[in-house]
Amino acid sequence: MSLFSRRPGRPEASLDDPVFHLSDLDVWYGDHQAVRDVTMTIGRRQITAMIGPSGCGKSTVIRCLNRMNDLIPGARVVGKVSYHGENLYDPEVDPIEVRRRIGMVFQKPNPFPKSVYDNVAYGPRVNGMKGKLDDIVEEALTGAALWDEVKDNLKGSALALSGGQQQRLCIARAIAVRPEVVLMDEPCSALDPIATAKIEDLMAGLASEFTIVIVTHNMQQAARISDYTAFFTSDIDPAGVRHGRLVEYDATEKIFENPVDQRTEDYITGRFG
Ligand SMILES: Nc1ncnc2c1ncn2[C@@H]1O[C@H](COP(=O)(O)OP(=O)(O)OP(=O)(O)O)[C@@H](O)[C@H]1O
Ligand SMILES: [Mg+2]
Repeated sequence: MSLFSRRPGRPEASLDDPVFHLSDLDVWYGDHQAVRDVTMTIGRRQITAMIGPSGCGKSTVIRCLNRMNDLIPGARVVGKVSYHGENLYDPEVDPIEVRRRIGMVFQKPNPFPKSVYDNVAYGPRVNGMKGKLDDIVEEALTGAALWDEVKDNLKGSALALSGGQQQRLCIARAIAVRPEVVLMDEPCSALDPIATAKIEDLMAGLASEFTIVIVTHNMQQAARISDYTAFFTSDIDPAGVRHGRLVEYDATEKIFENPVDQRTEDYITGRFG
């Protein structure tokens, strides 16, 4: 039985309009090469899932897409990450602007200890965005499928929301600055199945406007929501050092129904040790 079931109404998966191109990407932490040889293209308004066993480098690779690894002492990126054909790591590129255009949502919801309104308004204020702030906040909360639940208590503390609501608030905060890309590293792993389903429902809508890259441990989730899937694994070199690598990258349907590599097949069918 195939895990894959494409959401009704989703357009065909396509890489015709690339946003990122990673070529021969290696990432080091100090003298440990954590990930090697990643080459892949990420398409505009596609949902790209990264899957694979713990430690294979998914977080490391997703962090390369908005230069979050810059913030980790000792982290070094070798190879090329291009964003709309430009080298994302060019010294001329401003990492702050990069992170405005390429937002991120983390595993654990991390709202600021402020009101719901101020969480969402924070980025637009800092960025001096034009437009009425109330409208920007409403639009972002609506986009994150949270508006109806919070509209009567926008001045209430974000910390009083449930975990699932907090995560949707973090999504609202990320999209409020109108990024092009939203990166999500296991956004549902701290949530119950109902909150997870809400976020999955919301993803398809977000993908009509944003390019989404999501790391997930949940293969059904990758199969349900993504257009393209990258399967990573790690192997041990002759010196006994573990390195992550990209094994296979293709349309999600292909990865789940007809993978080329035996390691992908073993992982998606649960035979991976
Ligand atoms: N900040 C860091 N400093 C040093 N090494 C790190 C750091 N972050 C990750 N690593 C190493 O890089 C490798 C890949 O880790 P990474 O967190 O990217 O894996 P992952 O696929 O996201 O795993 P998980 O599914 O458990 O989140 C591991 O060997 C890990 O120990
Ligand atoms: Mg991770």
